[in-house]
Amino acid sequence: MQKIQNILTEKLEEAFALAGYDKKYGYVRLSDRPDLCEFQCNGALSAAKQYHKAPFMIADDVLSNLLKIEGVNNILTAEVVRPGFININVTGELLAGYLEEMMQDAYLSIPQVSTPKKIMIDYGGPNVAKPLHVGHLRSAVIGESIKRLCRAVGNEVLGDVHLGDWGLQMGLIITELKAREPELIYFSDDAPEDMSKYPEKAPFTISELEEIYPFASKKSKEDEAYKAMAMEATHELQIGKPGYRALWNKIMELSVADLKKNYERLNVSFELWKGESDVQPYIAPMVEKMKAEGTAHYDQGALVIDVAEPDDKKTIPPCMVLKSDGASLYNTTDLATIMERMKLYAPDEIIYVVDKRQSLYFTQVFRAARKAGLVDESTELVHVGFGTMNGRDGKPFKTRAGGVMRLETLLNEINEGMIGKIRENRNVRAEDVENTAEIVSLSAIKYGDLSNQAAKDYVFDTDKFTAFEGNTGPYILYTIVRIKSILEKAAENGIDWHEAKLLAPAAAVEKSLMLDLTRFGSAIGEAYEELAPHKICAYIYDTANDFNRFYHETKILSEPDEARRASYLKLLEVALRVLEKSIDILGFGAPDHM
Ligand code: ARG
Repeated sequence: MQKIQNILTEKLEEAFALAGYDKKYGYVRLSDRPDLCEFQCNGALSAAKQYHKAPFMIADDVLSNLLKIEGVNNILTAEVVRPGFININVTGELLAGYLEEMMQDAYLSIPQVSTPKKIMIDYGGPNVAKPLHVGHLRSAVIGESIKRLCRAVGNEVLGDVHLGDWGLQMGLIITELKAREPELIYFSDDAPEDMSKYPEKAPFTISELEEIYPFASKKSKEDEAYKAMAMEATHELQIGKPGYRALWNKIMELSVADLKKNYERLNVSFELWKGESDVQPYIAPMVEKMKAEGTAHYDQGALVIDVAEPDDKKTIPPCMVLKSDGASLYNTTDLATIMERMKLYAPDEIIYVVDKRQSLYFTQVFRAARKAGLVDESTELVHVGFGTMNGRDGKPFKTRAGGVMRLETLLNEINEGMIGKIRENRNVRAEDVENTAEIVSLSAIKYGDLSNQAAKDYVFDTDKFTAFEGNTGPYILYTIVRIKSILEKAAENGIDWHEAKLLAPAAAVEKSLMLDLTRFGSAIGEAYEELAPHKICAYIYDTANDFNRFYHETKILSEPDEARRASYLKLLEVALRVLEKSIDILGFGAPDHM
């Protein structure tokens, strides 16, 4: 569907041409002064320079030609304002017709890309055997939303969790387990090669695993010999020692099941559960290629790729591919992952939703991948870097005791508070309270995060985020539920609005709401262009505010004129669909009552 702004631009272009000016001056934008008009065309001001005429005269000329265009009076009214602006308001008929068309449109007016891309999104990035903590929240929340956004405009999108499943944490767990239970088959000298020969059951539970890792990690920082053992165990695992390999499988099984459970609670899901371990077979051939083609060279024993470019404002150090002891590192895995992704999926774009503190790192990796020819020329590599989630003290979010907060703890705390709030203040049946609280809590967390521009640090303020008033998730859900319950009541009273015609607005508040709703497609389109979910939040906050203004000033169900009443209900339905689609793209849903 065409944007309203474009419909107007076409008319203005025609008018400029009719008046004898270049039609390129006909561009119509949203008004800078919504108090004066809804849209404006400033073309006469620019045309004045080319035609050496007063802008005011040009604007006048264009306006009189505009009003002569057939049918134009049905869609707009306009006036010239000194020094030469053309201020435009659209008619209620245009808006009503547009919204009717939107309801018929399969995409609810969301612009669809002309050539769909295959996009891979690398987000989540949890590390196996380490519990998810609040530091993992942003990648999951922003990544999921970007995935849905890319999909909403018609792309094919694959999300990959890219597990950290190959690092030192694995060696630490193995080492600690061996110290505690050396008699296990995994550590015996004749541990079988055949993976099916190991016991079905893991020798630990997930909570034991979550105790073992931090214990071992702490110990390795105090005990050099222990650390050396863990590094050796990591190395042995990586070269395929069967017992360790079998143990690794058990750690993975338990850990991945637990991660899935946690992500599910966040309404986050991944098409691919691949990890660093999957790309190990790519490393040797990749290194060979780099050496053979001369893209990589040895520097003080380490294999590196120079990635500095002449226009760099700051120095970009070389990208290290292998350490001087020949070991691979984080970079190596990311490069090999690019290679694997190209081979298996051939994406047109890979988007990494990772902490912005890794931005220099991604610059190095992307450049190295291009230089080494691991990625097609036409495949875009994009890093969407996000800022830190801080506590109210402005420092990275911590528990009250000052420790790293587990994601589960954060979710539980918010949920508990929300259960109380809902039980006291909301109209929810006792048996629905918990479920509703879970839904509303998730909106609080996700909207609180997403409404901030991703690249900025933000303060996670539980009280603010969970409030039912203000720019919050619960406020948006409250608005949605309000609409649902009016429609429900109308249906209970036997009112049928589905076939009704949407009428031109009867009041200014209604027109504002309609204008907002016609902007839905462009709001989503812009959010996609900039991969910026916060733009969707800003859009729905405006729309929810305008809806609530309309609601307070309008008698909807008690409207005596049947056609008008049905039209109001239909407008509510448009608003409901727009808001629900928007929060779906943001990655949360609304309850039926609250
Ligand atoms: N596991 C990493 C970490 O905890 C994040 C991975 C991000 N993705 C990537 N392809 N490097 O920092």
